[in-house]
Amino acid sequence: MDALTRAGFAPTSFESGAAPNGPFDLAVIDCERGDVPATALYAALRADDVPVLLLIGADGDLPIGLGASSDDLALKPMPPEALVFRLQALLIRTGGHLPTESGAWASSESLTAASVAGEGHVVSIFAPKGGVGKTTVAVNVAVALRQQTRAEVLLFDADVGVGNVTAVLDVPYRLGLADLSDSPPEEWTDTAFEHAVSTHTASGLRVMTWGTDPAESERVSVDLLLAALRWARNHHSYVIVDNHPGYDDRTMAMLAVSNEIFLVVTPEVGALRNSAQFLVLARELGLASVVKVIVNRANHGIGLEAMASALGLPIAATVVSSGPKAVIAMNEGMPVITKFPREKIADDLHRVARLISQPDGPQETAPEMTARRWWTGFGTRASSA
Ligand SMILES: Nc1ncnc2c1ncn2[C@@H]1O[C@H](COP(=O)(O)OP(=O)(O)OP(=O)(O)O)[C@@H](O)[C@H]1O
Ligand SMILES: [Mg+2]
Repeated sequence: MDALTRAGFAPTSFESGAAPNGPFDLAVIDCERGDVPATALYAALRADDVPVLLLIGADGDLPIGLGASSDDLALKPMPPEALVFRLQALLIRTGGHLPTESGAWASSESLTAASVAGEGHVVSIFAPKGGVGKTTVAVNVAVALRQQTRAEVLLFDADVGVGNVTAVLDVPYRLGLADLSDSPPEEWTDTAFEHAVSTHTASGLRVMTWGTDPAESERVSVDLLLAALRWARNHHSYVIVDNHPGYDDRTMAMLAVSNEIFLVVTPEVGALRNSAQFLVLARELGLASVVKVIVNRANHGIGLEAMASALGLPIAATVVSSGPKAVIAMNEGMPVITKFPREKIADDLHRVARLISQPDGPQETAPEMTARRWWTGFGTRASSA
């Protein structure tokens, strides 16, 4: 309850079977609490279309009568921070808004009414650790996807305050989301978002950035990013999101609404450990099923089988280290796949893009895996890394 209150929620708890007085935006039912007639409570909430998160015990059993396919399930024990993220994700997925820090509910008719039909496929490129190659993968995969599909592809720079894909990809700078941050949500229209898009002439890739001035970054709210992403998926077949390394609210919101998360890992103990910690959190948040592991600079360091086994997930794709070539390309504002199309790194990055463009195509085979939980003991706190 404390963690939820700190995150701006206004939680109410029911210890007895008394019918709760709504309306509610979300509900959590602890299925192990025998003192609450959970089925009646559940039926009442479902009748009001309240999204429900069911907390279940380690045996994974659901009480009879509970659990529609649309419900979220979470295994106990669940750390308070994880519950907060999980509920934020549930809110976002069901079209709601996050509570603001003041405790008031952010709401805007224009946002809730925004159509989500014709959804584009959103892929977040993420790593909890900086410098592992997220931006390199994001930029090149976006360009490769555009080349492979000729569909509308948007590269979305959500590394607010730090990242700037326009520094490594030569596009004419127009506006960033920070320029919309002073306008009320009613003015976050299709036209306004369209004005914040630049086109990379050589590839036809469309690019949207948060802005360029770190001093403005605090003004880019979670709601603005989510509204931009909602717009983006309505107007593009694919949206590739370059994320900030870490577990801030903006990043967690981006991850929660992505169809896929490409977790970029380098074959080093530090990156591997951080990634394993992220996967623990992802499992708690119900996001683990959408994570694919991409090993960057795969030819140096820890072997792939050991990495897959430590993460408990197969390696979906690998990218070789190109020596200085990736840096040379970036310094010239070119994607490495077009600057050095015959290098192995270009093949590798195209293969990463094919995970998206041909999801049913042949996948790299991965060794049979059981997670060796060697990271147990690092804790699962969701605070900033
Ligand atoms: N496979 C590779 N081969 C050679 N150089 C690479 C490779 N991948 C990334 N680099 C270089 O490593 C540096 C860091 O890469 P990049 O900026 O993509 O990482 P990042 O994860 O986005 O970093 P940050 O967390 O700071 O946003 C860059 O100079 C990039 O050119
Ligand atoms: Mg980056």
